[in-house]
Amino acid sequence: MSEPTIESILTENRVFTPSADFAQNARINSLDKYQEIYAKAQADPQAFWAELAETELDWFEKWHTVMDWQPPNVKWFAGGKINITYNCIDRHLKTWRRNKAALIWEGEPGDSRTLTYAQLHREVCQFANALKRLGVKKGDVIGIYMPMIPEAAIAMLACARIGAPHSVVFGGFSAEALRDRLNDGSAKLVITADGGWRKDAIVPLKEQVDKALADNAAPTVENVLVVKRTAQNLKMEPGRDHWWHDLQKEVSADCPAEPMDSEDVLFILYTSGSTGKPKGVVHTTGGYNLYTHMTTKWIFDLQDNDVYWCTADVGWITGHSYIVYGPLSNGATSLMYEGAPRPSNPGCIWDVVEKYGVNIFYTAPTAIRAFIKMGDHLPNSRDLSSLRLLGTVGEPINPEAWIWYHRVIGKQKCPIVDTWWQTETGGIMITPLPGATPTKPGSATLPFPGIIADVVDLEGNSVKDNQGGYLVVTHPWPGMMRTVYGDPDRFRRSYWEHIPPKDGKYVYFAGDGARRDQDGYFWVMGRVDDVINVAGHRLGTMEIESALVSHPAVAEAAVVGKPDEIKGESVTAFVILEGDQAHTDTLADNLRQHVASEIGAIAKPSEIRFTDALPKTRSGKIMRRLLRTLAAGEEITSDTSTLEDRSILDKLREGA
Ligand code: WTA
Repeated sequence: MSEPTIESILTENRVFTPSADFAQNARINSLDKYQEIYAKAQADPQAFWAELAETELDWFEKWHTVMDWQPPNVKWFAGGKINITYNCIDRHLKTWRRNKAALIWEGEPGDSRTLTYAQLHREVCQFANALKRLGVKKGDVIGIYMPMIPEAAIAMLACARIGAPHSVVFGGFSAEALRDRLNDGSAKLVITADGGWRKDAIVPLKEQVDKALADNAAPTVENVLVVKRTAQNLKMEPGRDHWWHDLQKEVSADCPAEPMDSEDVLFILYTSGSTGKPKGVVHTTGGYNLYTHMTTKWIFDLQDNDVYWCTADVGWITGHSYIVYGPLSNGATSLMYEGAPRPSNPGCIWDVVEKYGVNIFYTAPTAIRAFIKMGDHLPNSRDLSSLRLLGTVGEPINPEAWIWYHRVIGKQKCPIVDTWWQTETGGIMITPLPGATPTKPGSATLPFPGIIADVVDLEGNSVKDNQGGYLVVTHPWPGMMRTVYGDPDRFRRSYWEHIPPKDGKYVYFAGDGARRDQDGYFWVMGRVDDVINVAGHRLGTMEIESALVSHPAVAEAAVVGKPDEIKGESVTAFVILEGDQAHTDTLADNLRQHVASEIGAIAKPSEIRFTDALPKTRSGKIMRRLLRTLAAGEEITSDTSTLEDRSILDKLREGA
């Protein structure tokens, strides 16, 4: 952890109470009701979750133990048998929802597709049978590297249906990043597409898969299943590569959901931490199903005729939990959009809202800041009157961006749910309930029922109201991660040891700084570890440093986040070159390109600053907080007494 103290400079006093109109039809419709449910859950979390598991989900067999907590390992609903796709699809087929739209999809070029629950069922069963035909068995890890097309969701569900854990890798990641993740999970098969559309160009996904697998570099992968999307010419490797549309003709649509143990692995999803290697966050079946189901139901307050749109990519946890599993488990209509605002259509987001009459819209602060910059005329020239609820996730939202969202998009009538959570937490943890919680711009407000959170110092003592500290969760919850794939020690070290257990009571350390105000509202201030948040994407500074150092010209590198108007943070890299090479713009460009090919375009430094030395402590640790201050162009006023050589700072400043 980098910062000894956490200070908050934000004071925001505006309060917005849910409108009577909204509250009237909401499931949880007053603060009193929230508090009553919260108190009940806090008094006996196990009884609270067990009751919901019983009434909200279908189980093949009931559990024998609600929660088995052997810190830091937890089991929820042990002994229970369940399949999340049964809850997401099959159970709706017995009701009128059979013919309700499960997925509405809009492609970037303007093509579109709607899948009813019955159609989704058929596609998922066929896809699952195709996987079986390629030799996939329960427990085999399957890589998914897909554009935002319905088959991405279908592929995830097909894996879950037969008990093969999926490992989705965001389509913006490079071949190298894909290969590392496939190898870490020993993936047996990769599902991909020829390409996807992104800002009027084709992202050649299959080509990246070929690169990742070249020279037998991912030896566990036996087959590649390819969906046709962009239809450019493609090299298919005989025996290894298979077209989905060919297999589809040969397989039946009969594939019953495999009864899984509640604690069987549902998926692995990689995220950045404070070391160079991404962590494979492991989620299991029953608890995750319940947690995403309940949070979707109460936070988005989905009603049966709603069109719900979460703009995330399925490559991130938000896509997993709030495009696919949570909404479908609730029998909702979930919209998927392939495109992004682009010069040829900067207002495309609002076109989609208008076209489908979207009622609930969930996006990220970085997107909102980009919308603000593009101008009010874009949303103002579309019909947004269908919207009734807005949400945000991914990073702290600036109060002014919140107010803009409320005014220009929500027309001052839509509640905003600012939802704090993480890949690790599986679902939303701190959030308003839209019909109940008065909101304050910039605050994620109060914990979800069943979640017991606190702000503590490094000894684990709660800090006073309005004082900064570390955000922790003090009681296990059903959606929490179970381990780091293949590395239980890292799981313990990363989340359970920074704050030492007191009297044998372990707390989950989130890695975020926060404060709690006099009303008990949480204000999340951002990461306290070496993770930066670029446009809502978590990037480990160490990962980017490793990528830079892997370039032959680089001797040493230090990466920090720099405040950015749109992206929240951008990447600044301080680089020491090998030998006495010239500090040229071309080399800086090459290094940026190198990072893109090692990790992905999202990790590209926006600034490279060449230097001869880095500020270090006497024990040789790079003092990143000083580099952060320098990158932001601010004066260094904090303590520099541990710095080994003060003259380095002057040189760095001169070079700026
Ligand atoms: C940040 C995304 C403030 C936080 C679901 C967290 C937020 C990290 C919020 C997780 C929010 C997410 N307010 N900060 N509403 N939501 N964060 O794993 O730093 O991609 O630790 O999960 O994003 O990012 P991840």
